[in-house]
Amino acid sequence: MIHVRTSESSDLSGLMRVEHESFSTPWSEESVLSFLDDGEHRICFTAEDEREIVIGYLALQFVGDEAEICNIAVKPAFRGRGIGGQLIDRAVEFCAGRSIGVLHLEVRVHNAPAVSLYEKKGFRRVGLRRGYYEDSGEDALLFARPIDDIEASRK
Ligand SMILES: CC(C)(COP(=O)(O)OP(=O)(O)OC[C@H]1O[C@@H](n2cnc3c(N)ncnc32)[C@H](O)[C@@H]1OP(=O)(O)O)[C@@H](O)C(=O)NCCC(=O)NCCS
Repeated sequence: MIHVRTSESSDLSGLMRVEHESFSTPWSEESVLSFLDDGEHRICFTAEDEREIVIGYLALQFVGDEAEICNIAVKPAFRGRGIGGQLIDRAVEFCAGRSIGVLHLEVRVHNAPAVSLYEKKGFRRVGLRRGYYEDSGEDALLFARPIDDIEASRK
């Protein structure tokens, strides 16, 4: 049984483990902490299992009526079970509750699991930034999803 809730400062070490298991250049503790400390423009959602072990998270930034998914990751052993989808559903619900009109994100063009997840969750490609990622020179795909229909995300 997976539970998704708003992250707390005490999640930091668990979130960092997810981060290190998921990315070759993980976010620093300061970067993750900045999403736990700032309820005004940033929020994190934690996915935990029945033992309350942190297995995934999503970092969201919001200003006015727009928001951006800045990060999403699920521990490798727990992928492919719908947890990434649950985290996105939670972000969409949060945006709907705040009358946020559109949710943005950017993703590496070759990150097939993430691209597929976003398309499944109602995001549409709206642009391309060539050579955006400094480490690999990879292009970034820009995706957006209007927050007009929460049910569209749950399909
Ligand atoms: C992207 C990520 C968060 C997906 O999490 P997840 O919990 O495995 O995703 P879900 O199980 O909810 O998958 C939902 C959909 O995503 C797509 N998907 C997930 N994994 C996939 C894979 N390996 N290949 C292709 N599509 C995949 C499928 O459309 C899937 O729907 P389906 O199960 O009906 O086929 C996870 O792969 C991850 O942590 N990757 C490393 C970090 C990362 O790259 N984050 C994105 C940064 S932009």
